[in-house]
Amino acid sequence: MSTLWIHRYAQRTQRMTSSAIRELLKLTEEPDIISFAGGLPGPELFPVEELREATETVLEQKGRKALQYSTTEGYRPLREMLVRHMARYGIVVGVDNVLVTSGSQQALDLIGKVLINTGDKILTENPTYLGALQAFTMYGADYVTVPIDDGGMQVDLLEDALRSGPKFMYVLPNFQNPTGVTLSLERRRKIIGLSDRYGIPIIEDDPYGQLRYEGEHIKPLVVLDAEGLDCQHNGKYSGNVIYLSTFSKTLAPGLRLGWIVAPTEVITRLVQAKQGTDLHTSSFDQMVAYEVGRGGFIDRHVLRIREVYGRRRTLMVQALERAIPDAEALGVRWTRPEGGLFLWVEMPPSVDTVELLKEALKERVAFVPGRYFFANGGGGNTIRLNFSNATEPQIEEGIARLGRAVLRAVQAQKAAVTV
Ligand SMILES: Cc1ncc(COP(=O)(O)O)c(C=O)c1O
Repeated sequence: MSTLWIHRYAQRTQRMTSSAIRELLKLTEEPDIISFAGGLPGPELFPVEELREATETVLEQKGRKALQYSTTEGYRPLREMLVRHMARYGIVVGVDNVLVTSGSQQALDLIGKVLINTGDKILTENPTYLGALQAFTMYGADYVTVPIDDGGMQVDLLEDALRSGPKFMYVLPNFQNPTGVTLSLERRRKIIGLSDRYGIPIIEDDPYGQLRYEGEHIKPLVVLDAEGLDCQHNGKYSGNVIYLSTFSKTLAPGLRLGWIVAPTEVITRLVQAKQGTDLHTSSFDQMVAYEVGRGGFIDRHVLRIREVYGRRRTLMVQALERAIPDAEALGVRWTRPEGGLFLWVEMPPSVDTVELLKEALKERVAFVPGRYFFANGGGGNTIRLNFSNATEPQIEEGIARLGRAVLRAVQAQKAAVTV
C-alpha cells in the first residue's frame, strides 16, 4: 500500500478511534447469533408496499422534478407537512425554521461543523448517543457530562456543569439512546430555566418521541422554551433550542431522511454548511416520503410500530426477570423504558462487559458494551440491549442465553472476591 497518504491526514483524524469493538460486533452478524446489539428497527415493519406505490406515483407524476437537483433547505411540501405534524405535538414553527437533512446523523454533523471549535466543551448526558460523540469529536469537542438516573439527566448536578461554560447542551429527553430513560417534565422545566439563566443553548435530539408504549407524552424542550420566552413571531421560532428528528424509526432508516428545527438565522448557517456536504438531501426520497405521508399513512403506521415494539419491550423485561431471578441480590439492574428501542443493564462494578460479550458470543447472543456511550470513560459494567429488531421468539431465547452468560460472569466475580 502507498504510504503517501498516511502523513497527510488532517489532525482531526487523530481523534477518530478505530475501536476493537468493531471486530467483536462483526461476529454479531453471524447467522446463528441473536443480536440485541444494533439500533435497528424491525425490518418486517418497513412499509415496502406503500413506499413502492409512492415511488411509482412520484416517478409517474413528477419524475423529472424528483430526479433533478433541488434546494438545500428541502422539498417544500415535505417541510410544510413536517410543520403541520410537529404542531400536533405543540412544536409551532414556520417552514423557514425547518431544514431537511440526510438523517439526524447529518444534522449532528452539521451542528458540529457550524458550532464547534477545537477545544469547545459540549455538555452531554452520561451516557449519551455514540453517533453524536463521533460527530462532535471530529470537530474537536471536549465533553462535560452530567449523569442520568431513571428520570433522565440529574438536573441537580447540571448547574455545576454549566458553570464550566459549555458551548451547548446535547439532550435526549425521550427514551434516551442508550439507556431508554425519559426526562421528567419537572426536570425539563429546570433545564430550560438553567439554559436561560446561564445563556447556554440546547440541542434536543428526539428520534423516538413518537414511539411511546405507555404513559403520557411529555412536552419537548423546544415547546417549553417557546412557552417561557417570547420567541414565536408570525409562526416562526427564534428560541434557544435546536430540535432534531427523523423518519428513520417511523418509516425506514435506509431513506436517510431527518430534519432540523432552528431559528432562521441558524438555519441559514446550517444550509451553507450542508451545501459543502451534499448540496441537498435526495429530492427523490423526500418526494416519496411526502407522497407516502400526505394522506396520514405515517400516523397510522406509527400506531402499528408502537404495538409491536411495545410487546417486544415488555417481553424483554419479562424475559430478563425470568433469566436473572435474583437480580437485586446479584447487583444487576435494568431500566424499564416507556418507549424507544433500548433498555440498559447495569452489572456489579467488578463485571467487565467487554469480557461478558465474549462469553455471550459463546452462547450465540450479542449486545453492545455500554462503555462506548460514555464521553469521558467509565461504564465498563453496563450493556445496551435493543428490543425492536429481534422477533418475540428470538427475544425469549436470546435473553435466556444472555442470562446464562451474566450469571456465570457475576458468580465468577463473586468467587474471585471471596477467595
Ligand atoms: C439519539 C439518536 N440521534 C440520531 C440518530 C441518527 O438517526 P438517523 O440518522 O437515522 O436519522 C440516532 C440513531 O439511532 C439516535 O439514536
